[in-house]
This record gives sequence, structure tokens and C-alpha cells, in this order.
Amino acid sequence: MENYLSTEFARSGPLLLAEALNKGRYKTAQRVFELMTPEQVVDEVKNSGLRGRGGAWFPTGIKWSFMPKPPLKGPSYLVINADEGEPGTFKDRAIMEKDPHLLLEGILIGSFAIRAETAFLYIRGEYLTAHDALATAIAELEQAGFLGDAVFGTKHRLRIVLHRGAGAYICGEETALLNSLEGRRGEPRPKPPFPAVYGAFGRPTSVNNVETLANVPAIVEHGAAWFKSVGTAQAPGHLLFGISGAVERPGCYELPLGTTARELVEKHAGGVKGGKKMRAFIPGGASTGFLPPEKLDVAMDPESLKKEGTMLGTGGIIVIPEEISVVDAARVFSRFFRHETCGQCSPCREGSAWSDQVIARFQRGEGQREDFTLLEEIMRGSKQRTICVFPEAFAGPLGSAIKHFRGEFESAMTTQQAPHA
Ligand SMILES: Cc1cc2nc3c(=O)[nH]c(=O)nc-3n(C[C@H](O)[C@H](O)[C@H](O)COP(=O)(O)O)c2cc1C
Ligand code: SF4
Repeated sequence: MENYLSTEFARSGPLLLAEALNKGRYKTAQRVFELMTPEQVVDEVKNSGLRGRGGAWFPTGIKWSFMPKPPLKGPSYLVINADEGEPGTFKDRAIMEKDPHLLLEGILIGSFAIRAETAFLYIRGEYLTAHDALATAIAELEQAGFLGDAVFGTKHRLRIVLHRGAGAYICGEETALLNSLEGRRGEPRPKPPFPAVYGAFGRPTSVNNVETLANVPAIVEHGAAWFKSVGTAQAPGHLLFGISGAVERPGCYELPLGTTARELVEKHAGGVKGGKKMRAFIPGGASTGFLPPEKLDVAMDPESLKKEGTMLGTGGIIVIPEEISVVDAARVFSRFFRHETCGQCSPCREGSAWSDQVIARFQRGEGQREDFTLLEEIMRGSKQRTICVFPEAFAGPLGSAIKHFRGEFESAMTTQQAPHA
């Protein structure tokens, strides 16, 4: 299977509509609007086994099948999650900056599938270049008659509303995003009700990640069997693996799910920068935690990483070189999560703050043996007692650091001084 997500990534600016049309873009969307039913689109996506690329890996076709069917009692919405706040993650940005029409064609098809006449594209506030590329591309579509009251000249209506967030990590969580979109504080809502029942403005809503939707045109064009021909049985297709940190060639690499971390880091990203040794790597964004280099042969798919006690998350690999201690790296993340908790739930608000203070103590060389128990208690006490899964996110780097690199923490109890505390 050829790459179908990253064909335009080498460009300097975004692919504009005229060129996109020359490349065959929107032919599939037009066929969908003219000839297909929403059920047919949902079935194709369901059969393809596409799973959401925002981190939770929920099957997209199944999520769409939860949306209301006729007779409709009011509007349904598609909300596109372009918040991309997870440290080490930049794949959605690459799509939006370089190939906005790939995403927009996915939005057209996704909106049709769930019978939405309005799609809200919620983009992270810092993503100015991506925002401008999308604003231009949406205006091009409106002018071409691909949006509006008669999409492709059919009876279907669709408008896309581009909405900028204000730069809060928690607004990537789908219900916090919905609150933020509505002009409220960006705080997660208790679930249930799930967005398919009570979403944006109280209406049934499907929240989908940018990369998820970018997969849809190719799936509908080539069919479910084509999509399932690569990747793993439970997680088919390609993934945009973002590789950053101490590697020779950081960037976004489109490869089948199940590719090993070793192949990604050593072959595609050119190995550790300067030929140095690797101390640790993070498989899928900050919340997935640290793995030692001995685990590099792990296959990068949700099931294989679960067996290693971690997650695929967003597939954003971060490579940590030998000169950086895991204690220091863990502190970077504990400080981040402490700052980004929304503060609604005491176990999360207090747990993220306390764990950051304990890690800081190790960093100063003042860690004590009881601190291991304390950290474990904080992690145990905050998980599954809160409105959203944020405590699982901050426990990721913490728990894995202690599990795989306990020795570093033990030596930090007596030797390390306090450069950053
Ligand atoms: C703390 C937190 C942050 C999240 N941040 C993002 C994000 O930046 N982008 C994203 O697409 N999903 C993010 N998610 C996942 C979303 O809640 C949701 O599962 C996703 O947008 C659904 O789209 P998908 O099914 O296409 O993956 C986050 C979840 C949590 C708990
Ligand atoms: S778990 Fe944390 S981030 Fe999630 S709602 Fe509660 S306080 Fe906010």
C-alpha cells in the first residue's frame, strides 16, 4: 500500500484546491454525496476496522453508528478534534498545514455519514499556520460549491465552522473541548451522557480526530479490504508516527501499524543523534510513559504496547539520550500535568501537584525510600475516581519511570543535586 496520508508533507505551503482537484481529491466525496447512503459509508468504515487516532483507539464506524437515524428530531454535529496537545505529537499539524483538503474531504464524508449539516473544527490556538491553511481551504470549498446549501449540487447542506481554542491541554479531551466550543470553561463533563447522545450544544455529536478523518477518503475510495491489507488484524492501516527528541531525522513517518519502534527510530529517524546511546523512549506521547531501549523491538500497535504495560496513544515517539536522566525527564512531564489539570476533581488536582513535588524532591537529591510508596499511593488514589482519565495520563510517565528506571531514582536519593528545583 502506497502512502496516502503524507503525500504532500514535503511541500513548503499547503496544497491548494486547484492542485488538489488535479490529484483526484473530492472525487470520492462527490460520489458519496451523489450516490451513497449514510449507512453504506458507515458500514464501509466499520468493516475497514478504522480506529480513532486521537489516542483512545475506539472504532470509528461503531462511533458513527451511535448517531441518530431518521426521523431526526433536530441537528447532529461532527466535531473535529484538532487540539493536538499531547507532548511529542505533531501529526495532525502536518496534515492541516500541508494537506488541508485531505482533512476537509474526510470531514465532508464523515458529516454525510452521520447526517450532520454543521461540522465544528476545533483547532489548537497555537496552530496559526494550520488555521490559516484551513481557513483558505474552507473558503475555496465554499466558492466551488462543495459546501453550503447544495453540496456538489445535491440536496445536502454542510457548513464548516473553524474555531480556535486558547491553548489548554485538557481541551483535547472531547467533552472539555465541547464545553470550550460552547464558550464555557474547558472542563471535562461527566460521562454518560456520551457526546453521541448529548454533545455540542446539547445535540448528538461525533467527536473525531484529524488523522482519523484523513483516513476516511482512502477507505471509501479503495474499500475496507484494501485498508485491512496492512497494519495488524486489530489495528489496520497506516499511522503517522511522529518521532522527536534526540534523533538524527525528527519528523512524521507514515508506516503500517505494528511497525517496530526500532525500525522507526533507527531506520527512518536515523537513530540517536550523534551516535549516542539511548536512555529511554516514549512510545506514544507523554502520557504513555518511558520504556527502556531493550523494548525497542515492540510492535507499535495498541495491543502490543498494552502487553508492555503502556499504550500506543498518539504514536508520537520521543527519544531520550543517555545524558538526560529519567528523573529529570519525568519532572518535565510532572510539571506539565500539574499545570494542565483542570482542577475540578480533588484526586487529580492534588495528586498531580503532590507527585510533581515528590519528583522534584528526587531531582534535588532529597528523595526518600518512603517516596516510592507515596507516589504509588498517589497514582492508585487518583485513578478511576475522577471525571476524566487525566490521572491515568499523569501516572503514565510516573509509574513507568519508577518501574523501569527505579535505580535512577535510588541514586537520585543521595547523589543528585538540584539544578532545576
Ligand atoms: C486529557 C486528554 C487529552 C486529549 N487530547 C486529545 C487531542 O489533543 N486530540 C485528540 O484528537 N484527542 C484527544 N483526546 C482524546 C479525545 O477525548 C477523543 O477520544 C478523540 O478526540 C476522539 O477521536 P477519535 O475517535 O477519532 O480518536 C484526549 C483525551 C484526554 C483524556
Ligand atoms: S480528572 Fe483532572 S482533568 Fe479530568 S476533570 Fe477531573 S480535575 Fe479535570
